[in-house]
Order: sequence, then structure tokens, then C-alpha cells
Amino acid sequence: MHEFERVIDISEVPDPGKTLVEVEGEMIALFHVGGEWFALDDVCTHDGGPLADGALRDHTIACPRHGAKFDIRSGAALTMPAVRPTRSHEVKLEDGGVWIRLRDSATADGPTAHAAAPPAGGPSSGAPSPAPAATAAPAISDAAAADATAAPAATPPADTGPLSEEKVHELLKEVKDPELFVNIVDLGLIYGVTLGAAADDAAKHDVSIDMTMTSPACPAGPQLIADTKRVLTQRPDVANVEVRIVMDPPWTPDRMTESARDQLGIF
Ligand code: FES
Repeated sequence: MHEFERVIDISEVPDPGKTLVEVEGEMIALFHVGGEWFALDDVCTHDGGPLADGALRDHTIACPRHGAKFDIRSGAALTMPAVRPTRSHEVKLEDGGVWIRLRDSATADGPTAHAAAPPAGGPSSGAPSPAPAATAAPAISDAAAADATAAPAATPPADTGPLSEEKVHELLKEVKDPELFVNIVDLGLIYGVTLGAAADDAAKHDVSIDMTMTSPACPAGPQLIADTKRVLTQRPDVANVEVRIVMDPPWTPDRMTESARDQLGIF
């Protein structure tokens, strides 16, 4: 069980405002908005971005790396590319200071503790306001999840018409991000497709794909590359597939198609 720890004087953080504090050796983003206080891990669940460095607007903090937004009241991930909540912590005000008690796990689907500023001359500890409704991470339908976890198709694509860049895009819609359950074309991860004659067989193509990731350290990268090669080399007219990872320009959520947004519940 963690204990409350005084982290900063109330007067040191304007309203609205944010700052970075340390509690038990962990970096915590502290927010002061509308007379209330909230604390989150200073860690974006997409790829570890420092949330305290992001832009604060009302009760939303935007990760400075790729723009994922989190609800500071609950830690819920509100927008791509983050889909998991970050940990929120208990806050109280006492003796002119802000106190934080760490939680062990994210609570975006549970009650959220936060402290309101005490009235002048009133009790030193603010009574927690009712917890705001938790905002769930983008919804993923059971059907989509089941589809995504199904074993990769073992049979070649039925369509054996001539290969073209458009056809490659179509085929790559079979490759889905294992976390988001959305295909890599609709996610906007394909930056370019180049077809060339295979060196050892003029009837076949070498295919070169420029692909990006939602973050440089995306853990799904090796799987996406392998699945891309598997899907394309199933065709008899493809000799070799090269996948180049391109991080410039960096991926941003506005590269997603309407279809991807619909699937992720982003409007
Ligand atoms: S690290 Fe935060 S959005 Fe990518």
C-alpha cells in the first residue's frame, strides 16, 4: 500500500497548469484544472512519450510525440495511436501542499480520485468530487477482434489478375495491426509501392514496399513486415518482396482512412 507523499506547494502550479513531480522514484504528471488536481504517469502508453511536456486543453493532455490524447481525470486513452489508459493516481491537498498516492494499476474504467482546491480558510483537505465518467479506449468490436486473431490465411489470394500498385494495396489490406485490428493500408502505414521486373524471371515482379510504423519502437513491426511478405509472395507472379521501414515523415493519426477511424470509434 502506497502512502501519500507531499510533492509541491499548491501555489506553485497555476490553474490551468501542469508540472512534473517525482513520487517514490516515478515521474508523475500533475495537472491543476478548474480548481481540481489530477495525477497521471508521465508515460504515454503508445510509446512512452512524456505527457507532462504535452499540450493541456481542458481535461485533455496530448502526447508531444505522436499526438495521442488522454483524459487527465481517468488516464483513459482518447485518441490514436494510444489505445490503453495510463495510470492515474490519488491526489489530496493538505497543509498548503499537493499530495499524491500512487496506484498500482491503471484505473481508466474505475473511479478516479482527485482533489478540489480547499475553500479559503476552510478545511485543509479537499473533498474528492464525483468521478467523471471514464472514457473508454477506442472500442473494438468482438467480431473485429475475432477476425484479427484468426490464423493467417494459408491460401493464396483468389484474384490472380495482373499485378499493379493498386493491386498490391488491395492485397495488403489482409495485413492487420495486431493491437489495433485494422489493416495497414487503412492505418496509413504504406508510403509507397514500387514494382520492377524480377532479375531472374521477366514474367515475375520484385515488389518494394515503403512502410512506416506508428512509432519507431513499434513492437508489431517484425510481424507486420513478415505478414506483408507472406501475403505478396503467395502470388505466382511475385519473385521478391522488400519492405523498407520509413520514419520520415513520421506517421500521424490523420493518415488513417475513414474506414480505420470508424473501426476504432474515432470521429
Ligand atoms: S508516444 Fe505518445 S503518441 Fe506516440
